[in-house]
Amino acid sequence: MGRLNSSARAALQPVAEPHRDCGICARLVAYRNKTRQAHPDWFNGAVPSFGDDKGRMVIVGLAPGVSGANRTGRPFTGDYAGDLLYATLAEMGMVTGSYKATTDDGLRLVDCLITNAVRCVPPENKPTSEEINGCRPHLAARLSAMPNLSVIFALGRIAHENTLKALGAKLSAHPFSHGPVHKIDRIHLVDSYHCSRYNTNTGRLTVEMFRSAMSIAAALRVRQE
Ligand code: URA
Repeated sequence: MGRLNSSARAALQPVAEPHRDCGICARLVAYRNKTRQAHPDWFNGAVPSFGDDKGRMVIVGLAPGVSGANRTGRPFTGDYAGDLLYATLAEMGMVTGSYKATTDDGLRLVDCLITNAVRCVPPENKPTSEEINGCRPHLAARLSAMPNLSVIFALGRIAHENTLKALGAKLSAHPFSHGPVHKIDRIHLVDSYHCSRYNTNTGRLTVEMFRSAMSIAAALRVRQE
């Protein structure tokens, strides 16, 4: 390959926050266009990470819900899963303001940032392997752009595995389950079952289990000071 000029080189660099109209995944673009036609007033784009990019903790979710984060443009905002996530963050003292499921609720995250393994809404909440792989460079760039990162709290297996791959760690050395702490170089990775309606309705994840896993992550963040 010939030498690239600086704008061509920049275009090849994965960015922490993809363009709202990211075009990497054809199926997700088609779904976004369909949703945009039906709901032109919704956000309908790659949902940017939310929170403190100098924070020590990152929460990695799965992907925006169609009428939640895809509608509002903020991770977990307006999604059923957000009620439990933001309430638990508030209990840990990791927010200021109150979560009201809208982007103008004035909520701020303290020492923490929320992102998703896949930034665009997938049909039926199910991204394909290709889409998960296609979005990983953004997750990797997001993590490496956080100078104080010490703890990652992964919600569900897809977030766990995409995070391991983004960090260059072996999946076989770090199997997913609820609650364990994995050490990857200087980063602690703590897993939880995803705080989805399905998991809480079926009892796979209780409020207490979620609180307990998040408090492990929050405490590790404190210990690294
Ligand atoms: N909303 C998000 O932004 N991410 C999830 O994983 C679930 C709901």
